[in-house]
Amino acid sequence: MTDVHRAAVLHASGTDGVEYYADGAIGVGPGGRIESVGPWREPSAEARVHDHRPALLVPGLIDTHFHIPQIDARGRYGLPLLQWLDRHVYPAERACADPETARNMARRAFQSLLAHGTTTVAAYTSCHVQAAHAAFEEASAAGIRAVIGNPLMDRETPPDLRAGVEALAACEETAARWEGKHGRLFYAFTPRFAVSCTPALLASAAEAARRTGCRIMTHLAENEEEVRRVTELFGGDRSYTAVYASHGILAPGTIVAHAIHLSGEDCESLARTGTAVAHCPSSNFFLKSGRMDLSMLDNHDVTIGLGTDVGAGPSFSLWETMRDMLYTNDTTPERAFSSATRGGAEALGLWDRIGDFSPGKEADFCVYDVPPGLTAGSESRPDEMIAGLIFTEGGARPREVWIGGRRIFSGG
Ligand code: GUN
Ligand code: ZN
Repeated sequence: MTDVHRAAVLHASGTDGVEYYADGAIGVGPGGRIESVGPWREPSAEARVHDHRPALLVPGLIDTHFHIPQIDARGRYGLPLLQWLDRHVYPAERACADPETARNMARRAFQSLLAHGTTTVAAYTSCHVQAAHAAFEEASAAGIRAVIGNPLMDRETPPDLRAGVEALAACEETAARWEGKHGRLFYAFTPRFAVSCTPALLASAAEAARRTGCRIMTHLAENEEEVRRVTELFGGDRSYTAVYASHGILAPGTIVAHAIHLSGEDCESLARTGTAVAHCPSSNFFLKSGRMDLSMLDNHDVTIGLGTDVGAGPSFSLWETMRDMLYTNDTTPERAFSSATRGGAEALGLWDRIGDFSPGKEADFCVYDVPPGLTAGSESRPDEMIAGLIFTEGGARPREVWIGGRRIFSGG
């Protein structure tokens, strides 16, 4: 049976544009895929109508960078990246050596993300491979869509948190078990960042990703001290980006977070290799890492998604991340919204499945109250609707969340 969802319907129609139907509908087939989107029309007698009016229906948000073990380490303010990792992050990740702690954090992380309208997340666990399994199991139970990876690191990290080349066999087993499961779950090889990875680990992780067809997640050029350390560790006059390129890390299906301290040549290399960037403006404010130059990346046509980067990012809400994107760049609410939906889908290599309401895509959407002072009528402007959601205190929260055509979350 077809489900028809009637509401004001809004989705991104390009990097900077949106399509809006004041009295609209999306039709969802029995397999949870979108069959139609457009103005409301009386459906056939067999269709089941869900009348959400006067609410607003938008695609689920896509968080391209998130750390599960850091959910309770948010707000540890005052240190730059490398010192913040040592003081606050590694201890938090150490706690996930306990399987129940890891599982509990994953469960709470996914529920909080859903509560803020995120239907897909690219999430790092701790280095412990069983934490990745637990995260996959919890994502499977929660119904959320997820790319998950356990960070690899074999130097400049506390010894008990190291997972090097010898850990790759277990990573490959994890990948074999979960990659593509339910069409919702995907594994990412996750060499944490160049500071914490030997050349052998970078190259072996890249090779494993290629062999298994899995994604790669890592961090790139977030902080000036980090960039200097990479030069010291890898020698030569290569940039951070060039270090990744020469170890096979840059490729379609690779998502690098932050990408702040780059040259035009580095951007060109990201674009040429099909590497995507997870832009994390809230985190970059918090750690005072610097300002990502959106226009420079745009000029080189680099694919950009948005990431909360919890726990350097203090909020689970991508609406708040969109707000910080607006505060740090000369751009529009439509662009920020497109980055959090379309851009995220492209960045994670999921554009064939999600990111907008094109027929054939999986029906991942959220139902919101229209922001105060606006109405869902034909006189309303979509850019104002989006800005209203972005500037809702604490980030707009959906009333309902649907993934693959199934309602999996109802707000309180
Ligand atoms: N670089 C390496 N690891 C991390 C991390 O956990 N958070 C952030 N923001 N940057 C990193
Ligand atoms: Zn991160």
